[in-house]
Amino acid sequence: MMGSDENAQQGVTKRTEKAMLRTQMRALRDQFSSQEKVLADAMIAKRLFAMPFYLEAQTVLAYLSFLNEVGTDTLIQKALRAGKRIAAPVTKRGEPLMKAYRMFDLDNVQMGEWGMREPVATDQGITPDEFDLILVPGLAFTRTGDRLGYGGGYYDRYLAKVRPSTICVGLAYDFQVIPSLTVESFDFRLDYVLTPTSIIHCMVK
Ligand SMILES: Nc1ncnc2c1ncn2[C@@H]1O[C@H](COP(=O)(O)OP(=O)(O)O)[C@@H](O)[C@H]1O
Ligand SMILES: [Mg+2]
Repeated sequence: MMGSDENAQQGVTKRTEKAMLRTQMRALRDQFSSQEKVLADAMIAKRLFAMPFYLEAQTVLAYLSFLNEVGTDTLIQKALRAGKRIAAPVTKRGEPLMKAYRMFDLDNVQMGEWGMREPVATDQGITPDEFDLILVPGLAFTRTGDRLGYGGGYYDRYLAKVRPSTICVGLAYDFQVIPSLTVESFDFRLDYVLTPTSIIHCMVK
């Protein structure tokens, strides 16, 4: 058994490692040109549209991309046209669990607390157990489904509440898939990571 001091020390080390990796990954992402991004986003969307779990999904949680995140606008529009029930997350400081609100188009959005777009809160809230598919943003991913987020832990807490059958998919540019990353006990593992050139089935949930 590890002493609690030792446990606490490990937690501090892991948080420092995660923070350093976030800085590195943000810098890498900012070097990505806008032409490369448009092409890569289209390739990722094309992969997603061919996946059986996407074709079968009726209710989908999709993040509203900001800055250099893998873009989701075109993908959301196409999913809406395909008749899927789409929701996007709302995260608030001081509220540990993010909420999901239904989106009928991309116009019904407002600026959230962190400068990300979010759906306008309506009575059309969707609960975590209703999703068949969740598209997850992140700064870095591994082939075994580990993910580094922005440090809020919002997806870790949310994904802990979904059904075991819900497919959780990270969307990433190829340079965001790295050999390994620091994880803690609460970090949620993804089922798939889609990049412009690969479909990674993580299979270790
Ligand atoms: N399932 C959970 N239950 C409670 N707290 C959690 C959970 N998941 C994450 N957290 C909290 O969120 C914080 C940030 O998580 P972290 O994994 O570092 O961020 P991110 O996943 O955004 O990169 C953690 O320090 C932890 O305290
Ligand atoms: Mg995490």
